[in-house]
Amino acid sequence: MSIAGVTERGMAMDDFISLSKCSSQDVRAILDHASAIKANPAAHAGNLVGKNIILLFEKPSLRTRVAFEVGVSKLGGHAIYFDHSAQLIGERESVRDYAKNLERWVDAIVARTFSHETIVELAEHAQVPVVNALSKAEHPCQALADLMTMEEHLGSLQGKTLAYVGDGNNVCHALALGCAHMGVNLRIITPAGYDCGDCVVRHAQGVASENGLGAEIETSEDVGYVEGADAVYTDVWTSMGDTETTDDRRRAFEAYRIDEALMARAANGALFMHCLPAKRGVEVTDAVIDSKSSVVYDQAENRMHTQNALLSLLLSK
Ligand code: CP
Ligand code: NVA
Repeated sequence: MSIAGVTERGMAMDDFISLSKCSSQDVRAILDHASAIKANPAAHAGNLVGKNIILLFEKPSLRTRVAFEVGVSKLGGHAIYFDHSAQLIGERESVRDYAKNLERWVDAIVARTFSHETIVELAEHAQVPVVNALSKAEHPCQALADLMTMEEHLGSLQGKTLAYVGDGNNVCHALALGCAHMGVNLRIITPAGYDCGDCVVRHAQGVASENGLGAEIETSEDVGYVEGADAVYTDVWTSMGDTETTDDRRRAFEAYRIDEALMARAANGALFMHCLPAKRGVEVTDAVIDSKSSVVYDQAENRMHTQNALLSLLLSK
């Protein structure tokens, strides 16, 4: 095989739709491969030669789109961007027919959709790998970059503690599963009515007990639970597609803003993390996001390295 450093690792999964469908070994392999690509990009410049990847986006994007487009190009492949904001996937023709056409031309499908089911259906019908670039349910590519960033700054992930403060949304779901895979303790701190759901928590706890890495996945409504955490993470209070509830959310989340006083309750030198885009002054203050502890742009950079690793591994099978 021509893909540098990939053949001996292999990967059990065919698609990357949810971290609930990955093994902890797969996640470890992606993170290791991402570090190798970041450290020596020249050695991987041929990983995707001759590969065409289509990017289907129903929602806006900066990081995910650019990281995939530039990343694929750096590995010698070609990315094609399709703007699906005016007409959702499945409206012009069935998702099945769409997938059956695409698989005749492209080597992988990357999709950002409103409905998680659209991505699941694409994967059901396409014989090429399908990657979730964010759905209502999960943002697994983001969690990979977050884990890589934590490991770069904190060292070994096992036993570290991350506090996620804010909306129990797609980013939170992916983090819960990703942390469980890597043995990171996660405290999910959300206001009443905006929790991340028992199902995700139970699933993440199941992953943790299966891999024996000891991650504790806990929930609370008390922001004080950031006490002693190695990193504090937040996301927007209103995700794409949730804008009708923006005013209610502003009221519900008011006490959950990350400011310097809250960061001071975490461990000394705790990292501040955010998937971006951020609403400055809303879920996080300028003083925190611009502080020395903030690793938000490292997270953004690592989107590219982890996605490159993921595509290299998926397409080397
Ligand atoms: N974090 C993230 O996915 O950013 P974009 O929405 O800009 O892609
Ligand atoms: N939770 C956010 C993440 C954006 C990257 C959203 O879905 O809009």
